[in-house]
Amino acid sequence: MLHERIPNLAGFVEPDRVRREVYTDPSIFEMEMARIHERVWIYCGHESQVPKAGDYYTVQIGRQPMVMVRGADGKVNVLYNRCPHRGNMMCGDRQGNAGEFFRCSYHAWTFHLDGKLKNIPMMESGYAGTRYGKDSPECSMKRAARVESYRGFVFASLASDGPDLLEFLGESKVAFDDMCDRAPEGEVEIVPNCFRVIQHSNWKIFLENQLDALHPSVTHQSTGRAAHEVEKVLERKAKKGQVPLKYHMLSAFATVTIDKWDGFQTINYPHGHCILTGYMGLRPQDPDTLAYDKIMIKAYGEKRFEEIVGVNIHHVLIYPGLSVQSPLQQLRAVRPLSVDRTLTEIWHFRLKGAPEPIYRRALAYYNLVNSPSTMINADDLENFWKCHQGLSSDGGDWVTFGRHFGRDIEKDGRVVTGPNMGTSEAPMRNQMKAWTQYMTAGK
Ligand code: FES
Ligand SMILES: [Fe+2]
Repeated sequence: MLHERIPNLAGFVEPDRVRREVYTDPSIFEMEMARIHERVWIYCGHESQVPKAGDYYTVQIGRQPMVMVRGADGKVNVLYNRCPHRGNMMCGDRQGNAGEFFRCSYHAWTFHLDGKLKNIPMMESGYAGTRYGKDSPECSMKRAARVESYRGFVFASLASDGPDLLEFLGESKVAFDDMCDRAPEGEVEIVPNCFRVIQHSNWKIFLENQLDALHPSVTHQSTGRAAHEVEKVLERKAKKGQVPLKYHMLSAFATVTIDKWDGFQTINYPHGHCILTGYMGLRPQDPDTLAYDKIMIKAYGEKRFEEIVGVNIHHVLIYPGLSVQSPLQQLRAVRPLSVDRTLTEIWHFRLKGAPEPIYRRALAYYNLVNSPSTMINADDLENFWKCHQGLSSDGGDWVTFGRHFGRDIEKDGRVVTGPNMGTSEAPMRNQMKAWTQYMTAGK
């Protein structure tokens, strides 16, 4: 057993460095699934993915295939995607509508949309006098221990104990508030479907990159520079303020240099969550934005509108499985598949009640920065793969997180990077602190 082989798991993590096995050892991966992903609140999807009764969407939580389904009562259920009879998966498709109930494709056991057994063919003659029957819990589809949603974002926890969703999210819930508040109707709607990418690297490498403010102006420099060159030509030709914002989305990777990234800040919270401040100047004065502003002011009033659009967030990381860019209505859900395989689902949303050009802006960012075909994402993916390769070698034992170590400011349970230290590796240290707490809990 791993415990015999690794007597002190906490010894794998020091405040400013982590042993490489944490990223490459398959037994540590199994423990992570059991102690982290299959216990904490994991994002399943958005309620608008399953608008009608019977609509379902399959989702992976840790090692468990699950299905999120809209019940007849309008509630969203999260069930294990498994038939209690002989184990057949109930939903083989990624998404669909089950109709009024689930029907197993193997022997036709049927289940209500909350997982409860509906019928077994010839139940009376087949099961009279046995332990199986309508009211035996082992004949119903198993439900996730806990399901909660916040502003339409559905989470499930496979453990019956632990903090409730809002307590778990803490300040990171701003990701959903910021996203929804920017909608004149206060809600967002999913845009079907998502991009799916399987990264050939450990899941933590992706999460560590999300708030790594040191890498964009290096990794994405060539793309940023190319976009900036085009932007400059367009600026010379076009009237001021008329160069489409999408050039800026890419050129910012070159024009925001490392010293400027240092001017941003990360705020690190319990449970490994973190916020990166700084907003890419998405308040231009073009006619589309002005039209949107007008609708927002009508919906919220001038004061509240200023508060909403003044929220200064670039990125929110909700550990261990979600990376949210709320001002641009994007999120990436992280689904670890094995120690060196990680699925990311890349979604974007529509602000309800906002004009079409504002949606086009989110779509442009989605396609230009987060899609698998953009050079931004591709450059990151190459780094992730190369990191995993390097960590699998005998070239060194540690991954180091020493940048600005010892200079963080700790206050009221949060850790804030010091002035002009936005490129601090505090978010990685914070994630590994949470990792250690989860992995060694009760030991
Ligand atoms: S496995 Fe589902 S009905 Fe038999
Ligand atoms: Fe990147």
